Amino acid sequence: MIIKVTSPGRVNLIGEHTDYNGGYVLPCALNLSINLYFKINNKESRVKTDLGYSMSFNITDPYKKSSIHWENYVFGVIEELKKIKSDLNNFSCDIKSSLPSGAGISSSSALVCGLIKGLSILNNINLDNSKIINLSRNVEHNYIGLLGGIMDQYTILNAKENKAILLNCNDLTTKYIDIDFGELEILLLDTNIKHNLSNTEYNVRVKECKQALKTINLANNKKYENLSQVSIDEINNAKNDLSVNQFKRAIFVYNENRRAIKSAELIEKNNLSEFGKLMYQSHEGLKNNYEVSCKELDFLVDQSKKIDGVAGARMMGGGFGGCTVNLVKRNEIQEVVKNIKKNYKSNFGIDLKVIIAKPGTGISVVRI
Ligand code: GLA
Repeated sequence: MIIKVTSPGRVNLIGEHTDYNGGYVLPCALNLSINLYFKINNKESRVKTDLGYSMSFNITDPYKKSSIHWENYVFGVIEELKKIKSDLNNFSCDIKSSLPSGAGISSSSALVCGLIKGLSILNNINLDNSKIINLSRNVEHNYIGLLGGIMDQYTILNAKENKAILLNCNDLTTKYIDIDFGELEILLLDTNIKHNLSNTEYNVRVKECKQALKTINLANNKKYENLSQVSIDEINNAKNDLSVNQFKRAIFVYNENRRAIKSAELIEKNNLSEFGKLMYQSHEGLKNNYEVSCKELDFLVDQSKKIDGVAGARMMGGGFGGCTVNLVKRNEIQEVVKNIKKNYKSNFGIDLKVIIAKPGTGISVVRI
């Protein structure tokens, strides 16, 4: 029997860098995914991708960090599963993907969640979604060194077609929001810049926010558990004790949380032009206060502002590359893409990749 797991990417409409701060995000799954085909294999384990990479090992081999980045996702998943069941079966896994990697659409979480799902079924380990989310986060933290939040994994596991999820990352309460953007499409513009800086700078932001929280708690005699719980007055009270950067990060998180909540309301009311304005504000905050953008992302957002058919645009995901998410009138997409592509190429000498994104469903499993 073959177990086929389809694990999607994610688009985050708004609510960036808030997940690890216990705040609000508004993502949906993408209709592009990674397909993983699992089989028990008695001799050895083998993982093969359609990009021509393959790795083989014995499941009983002791853990060893690999110099090949993606292999560490596989080894990390196996180590985490071994903590639950020590005698895992050798397996083969063929991976076929329509999800570009390094574009900030969460291909790595799609891979990790897909591996955990498939291998848990193959080994009769019963895991609910929240367990998979925790394991997946452990893999990123302990084997990849990225101190990421849970937005990507939560979306991959729980997304529903044509819905965005307003997720409170502190208590995991959710509200599904219908996405009917009418004449507007979600357009992703991929800078084709692979975010080298992203892991290091991402972790720096996580630490800055933790430090900011400590200082704000001290200054206000409070015991908040995350930065999303503090009020604007409490941030201002602590201003003299916070570094300039910590203050900017705290202000960004405060505003971005409010934008995420407001955006969900606006989408429900079909007020997409106001939602578009919040996307632009989010980008400004990510650029100036959170400082996770880059010149290529800023260029794409600036370009989009000059075009009538675009309601809003912002960088998406961790930053320092990856893509922008844009709301664009369907019948103007071709023109928008043609112009921005041309200008991007002449400015940076890089080809722009374009994805028209449809809100897809969460992870699924088929036994073949
Ligand atoms: C990456 C992380 C997410 C989230 C975003 C920023 O995609 O994996 O957990 O923090 O960055 O919003």
